[in-house]
Order: sequence, then C-alpha cells, then structure tokens
Amino acid sequence: MEVFASAIAHPNVALVKYWGKTDWDRNIPAVGSISVTLANLTTHSTVQFQHGLAQDRLFINQAPAGRHQTLRVSRFLDEIRRRAGIDKFCDVHSVNNFPTGAGLASSASGFAALSLAASQAAGLNLDSTELSALARLGSGSAARSVFGGFVELTAGDKEGGEPAAFQLHDEHFWPLAVLVAVTTDAPKPFGSREAMAVTEARSPYYHSWVQTAAQDIEKMRSAIQRRDLQSLGETAEHSALKLHGLLMASRPGILYWNGGTFAAIEAVVRMRSEGLAAYFTIDAGPQVKVICRPQDAPAVSDRLQVLPGIIRVLPCRPGPAARLLEN
Ligand code: DP6
Repeated sequence: MEVFASAIAHPNVALVKYWGKTDWDRNIPAVGSISVTLANLTTHSTVQFQHGLAQDRLFINQAPAGRHQTLRVSRFLDEIRRRAGIDKFCDVHSVNNFPTGAGLASSASGFAALSLAASQAAGLNLDSTELSALARLGSGSAARSVFGGFVELTAGDKEGGEPAAFQLHDEHFWPLAVLVAVTTDAPKPFGSREAMAVTEARSPYYHSWVQTAAQDIEKMRSAIQRRDLQSLGETAEHSALKLHGLLMASRPGILYWNGGTFAAIEAVVRMRSEGLAAYFTIDAGPQVKVICRPQDAPAVSDRLQVLPGIIRVLPCRPGPAARLLEN
C-alpha cells in the first residue's frame, strides 16, 4: 500500500446549479447539474497515512484548519479507511491558489483532489466514476471536478444508486472564456450545506426549484452540444437567478450578494445591450463568473475590472480532470 499521494484538481462553475439533497447522509443531489471545470484555479492536496497519529490533521494553505473543517474531512477519510481496511490517521495538506471558502468552489476542487490523493494513498484503485461518487460524499460539486471540460452530475434515482458525474465534452470542445470577478476574499457567512437545509425546509419555492431543474439540464446539454453561447448564457443566468431567488425567499432570507455582485450583473447586462455577448452566473457566494468568447475576454475583463467592489478579475478557460502528481 502506498501511504503518500499527491493530486491536483480544479474548481468548476455550475452552469445549471445543484441545490438540495434527497439523502443527507449519502449526499444525494435532489437535482441534476452541469458545470465547466476551470483551468488556472487549482487545489493541490497531499495525503499521508501515518503510524502514531491520534487523529487526522488538516492544513489549508499551510495553516491548521478549524475543528469543523477537520471533522468534515476526517468523516470523509473514515469512508476511505473503511473501504481500504486501514486504521491509520493521516496528515492532509491542501493548498489553493485562489480564495478559500468564498464561493469559488474550493470544496469542489478540495474534495476532488482529496478523493484522488487519499484513495491512492490508501491503496484503493478506483476508476473515474467510482472516484466521482466518492468525491460526492465530501461535496456534491466535487463529483464534477473529477472530470475536465463540460460535466454533468445526475440527481439521485428511485433505485437508490450512487450518483456520479460524467463528461459531456472535454476541455478542448469549446474554448469559452470564464472571467471570475472577485468581489471579496472573505469566507462566506453560510456554507452551501447549511443554506441548502434552510431552503429545503423554509423556502416556498423549493418544490418548483426541483420540478423545473430537468428542463434546464436539457437546454444546457443542447446549448453545449451546438456551441450556442446565447442559449448557454440565458440558461445559466436563469439557473443562477432562480437559485438566488430560492435563497432570498427562505426564512431567514439568505443573500450571498454584495455591492460588487450587483455592479457586475448590471455591467454584464449593459455589455449585452451594446452587442458584447457576455453572460453571468453566481454560485453560493458573492463572486460573479462571466462567460464570453475568448476574443471578447480582454474587453469584458477591462469593463469588469473598473467596477466599484471588484477586487480583481481572474481569467479562466475550460480545464482538465483531477490528476495524480508524481511523488
Ligand atoms: C451553488 O457542492 O458545496 O455551487 O454537497 O453540501 O458540499 P455540498 O454542496 P456544494 O454545493 C454547491 C452549490 C452551488 C451549485 C453547484 O455547484 O452546482
């Protein structure tokens, strides 16, 4: 058994959003989702199982992680220990080259890289589908970061199967630009999991959210297949606004946006009215991701960069799957 392994993975931006669970223990998504994995943003994770540790230790960007995060990772590692039949604890080092916990999908790239490194270190030989289903237990969106390019994650089915993501098209299929407009580096006030629980129990729109998800998936699959930016953009904006409407309508209302978020949305709508094809999407946080053609990216980025409340703009493009690094 290898005891040490290292992997990298990229976050993804959801074009059709996952939100809600039908099984909280097994983390089964209530709706399907489609994302694009992002090159440029990276999580590097190293796992080492060791004799003599009394518990797992987690370090994020070189600093010891808090109790809550360590517990979440340790529970996830319990599943790997159970499958591999090992009882050693481990050290996990996770390094992000982008803000952590601020709605930039650090849990997606984090659990994708961790699944790969920890399963390898534990001697489990998993294929990509098994790896994706494993990553899903850590975080639903992580199931998608196991793959590169355009990726779909299915909702849970009635037969009680283990949902896993699969690749629709690889990262070379459609060279889109995704510009991440960073509005804050601060961690967000509510994690996705707790906010999902609030909307499920206390948003009057939750039922409609689940009911209408499949049609967004159909439209998005077709838009990607046809490389139709307008259809992709309109469907992505609809899914994002529907999600945030669901959040705002819950009790208590959850508003992830800040002034920079509003400024970026307004600017994107204005650019479109001037003939520049740009579309926004927003995950569970205040950052705005703007999708456009690569040749329009410099102009769109210039427009975003000067807005009040935008700290910086990170240029991204469709990126590759999670992968192991040589030790
Ligand atoms: C808005 O994957 O973070 O980014 O499964 O509870 O860890 P857990 O949730 P998480 O939720 C992501 C929500 C989203 C939309 C998406 O990525 O599809």
